[in-house]
Amino acid sequence: MTSPEPLLKVDALRVDVGERNVLESVSLEVPAGALQVLMGANGSGKSTLGLTLAGHPRYRVSGGSARFAGQDLLAMTPEARARAGLFVSFQAPPEIPGVKNNLFIRTALNAVREARGESPLDAFDFLEHARTAARRVGLGDAMLGRPVNDGFSGGERKRNELLQLALLRPRLAVLDEADSGMDVDGVRALVELVRELRAAGSAFIVVSHYQQLIEQLEPDAVLRLDQGRIAETGDVALAARIARSGFAARAAAAQAV
Ligand SMILES: Nc1ncnc2c1ncn2[C@@H]1O[C@H](COP(=O)(O)OP(=O)(O)OP(=O)(O)O)[C@@H](O)[C@H]1O
Ligand SMILES: [Mg+2]
Repeated sequence: MTSPEPLLKVDALRVDVGERNVLESVSLEVPAGALQVLMGANGSGKSTLGLTLAGHPRYRVSGGSARFAGQDLLAMTPEARARAGLFVSFQAPPEIPGVKNNLFIRTALNAVREARGESPLDAFDFLEHARTAARRVGLGDAMLGRPVNDGFSGGERKRNELLQLALLRPRLAVLDEADSGMDVDGVRALVELVRELRAAGSAFIVVSHYQQLIEQLEPDAVLRLDQGRIAETGDVALAARIARSGFAARAAAAQAV
């Protein structure tokens, strides 16, 4: 019997940014519904991996492959990746002046709904859903009518991404330091939302530096990125060890042998 193809399969992915090779050969597999935590020192390439999967033009793939939901991810446009159910959050969500938040999210949601064979939501129905979701992630209604992230605080931007996540319900969400800058209530909303979506079948790659969050997320695997590769794979014990001894201690030990 052959096992089913994982939702995401990245094989020997090589990525250059500017003049630099950042990811040398990254291989990983995320089964449907799984939650994996991606750890690694600052600058090790975690955001690079997420943005490459999203199709950001700055990240040039110079080798390897990535398959998502049975398709060649790297051959797809960023929009097609999103329609297929991939959601990638920004470590630092940008402002989009002139584009209203509710219109932005409704457009994205209706594109995804169309791809799933669902009918589009009109402005009225959308607003009802969006208000409920906004309340859940602790964003006031007024934030829906403002331009995307325009003047939002750091934590509000992260909450706005949670709002998108709650409405889009992706097959795979890559959350880049989703907890950074959020207060305790925001982190609680994040954990609850991730749990709910996971129970409904969404898979996650969560980039985080924080042991407490990692433990609450109950990951299926913890991966450590180093020198452009997945250097180690383990469970929460790996995250606990990194929290205790850091990345530098590990690198020094590796160099000593
Ligand atoms: N345009 C660029 N030109 C050259 N190097 C770049 C460019 N953009 C990013 N890099 C480098 O790529 C490396 C990986 O960056 P990346 O943002 O993926 O790291 P990260 O693991 O997400 O780090 P952090 O934990 O700080 O968020 C860094 O050393 C960064 O300086
Ligand atoms: Mg990063």
